[in-house]
Amino acid sequence: MSSEHVILNVNVLDIGIHLAAWQNSGLPPTAFVDPGYFADMARLAEHGTLDALFLADGPAIREDPRFKPSRALEPSAILALVAAETEYLGVIGTLSTTFNDPVELAHRLLTLDHLSDGRTGWNVVTTYSPQAGNNFGLADYPERSVRYRRAAEFVDVVLALWQAARSRVPVSHHSQFFDVDGLLPLGPSPQGHPIIVQAGGSPQGRALAARSANAVFSAELTFDAGREHYRQVKGDARKQGRSVDDVAILPGLITVLGKTREEARRRFEHLEGFLPEFYSLDRLSTVLGYDLRGHALDAPVPKAALADVDPDSFTASLGFRESIVRAIEENGGTLGDAVREFSAGGHRIVVGSPQDVADTIETWFRRGAADGFNLMPDVFPSGLEDFVDHVVPILRDRGLFRREYAESTLRERFSSVSSLDRTG
Ligand SMILES: Cc1cc2nc3c(=O)[nH]c(=O)nc-3n(C[C@H](O)[C@H](O)[C@H](O)COP(=O)(O)O)c2cc1C
Repeated sequence: MSSEHVILNVNVLDIGIHLAAWQNSGLPPTAFVDPGYFADMARLAEHGTLDALFLADGPAIREDPRFKPSRALEPSAILALVAAETEYLGVIGTLSTTFNDPVELAHRLLTLDHLSDGRTGWNVVTTYSPQAGNNFGLADYPERSVRYRRAAEFVDVVLALWQAARSRVPVSHHSQFFDVDGLLPLGPSPQGHPIIVQAGGSPQGRALAARSANAVFSAELTFDAGREHYRQVKGDARKQGRSVDDVAILPGLITVLGKTREEARRRFEHLEGFLPEFYSLDRLSTVLGYDLRGHALDAPVPKAALADVDPDSFTASLGFRESIVRAIEENGGTLGDAVREFSAGGHRIVVGSPQDVADTIETWFRRGAADGFNLMPDVFPSGLEDFVDHVVPILRDRGLFRREYAESTLRERFSSVSSLDRTG
């Protein structure tokens, strides 16, 4: 059962994670609402024997549409299409516990798991977007601790309903947020029920992952931070009576590929050239929770921007913030350097050759910082094509990645992958 294969999902984020992807993809800028686009990316991912296609969620407009057309279609609907277009590829969707109902969501995702023959995963998030709060009539956005309390109960309800799909013993759940009595009108799927992924790196987020997630989508910028996080979540899972194999750690990995390192660097410079500086600065300000406008770009990042924040009043993601603060403190450098490196989203970025990307994946995997990655190509489709054509063969030659699919359900695939204890 044990294999040494790395898990590789592709996160189809808009038309690419880079803010200038839509100006450089060769696709119409409206491709992110075209079903053909998702079907094409899914077939490409399956051609590369990737584990799953992953989708983020944003139940409100957050980006300034003048600079970036961004995610629009509802993830579970796209994933139904992706499942129909593929045979093996997993389908993982992010859906918020703050803006959904657990019974409706349990039904919708178990339906998707049937439609996909047991290839579905749910990425649990609590969402930090005040715009989403406004859409849903929440004048006072619930603070992190409240969102995570609701998330824990939400996951309990969903899991209870999914488990009851097999046992047929009606659920009776009564807690602060939910009162549920009954059963879903559905039996278990080929993998029982969807697997659970979690994203959100605050202590509450990590606790939720340790308790119930099969995988964690994390934001880790440095190898040391990645390894610490890996050990922490696996250690916490053990304390919950689970095995280290039960939860796979999957940091995001932004790839900017060229045949050579030099070519990749030119590709990156070209993309960066499209970004108005103030826009990148605004994005870093939001992630750090500190207004950086007006600060000199050739001076160090202001100390106050990196100081500890009150976890309850800080509205954005603590996980992203902590990773970025730590990386800025470790790297040194100027505000301009930080803007260039981190405004793309706070995930580790490799600008390099296929060898460079394969080396990062191998190092993190073999040295206990990751069980795999959520890949975020800079620009679709070329970034994914280059990964499949040039990085996947290297990983295969190094014995790190499958040549063909063996397991039919996502659960089997994930559990056969993370069965090596690399926590050291
Ligand atoms: C890697 C990563 C990906 C995330 N993706 C999403 C997403 O797609 N949609 C969303 O609403 N929130 C997303 N979140 C944030 C979650 O909503 C999270 O539950 C919440 O904001 C608190 O984050 P924290 O635990 O890091 O403070 C993500 C967070 C991380 C770290």
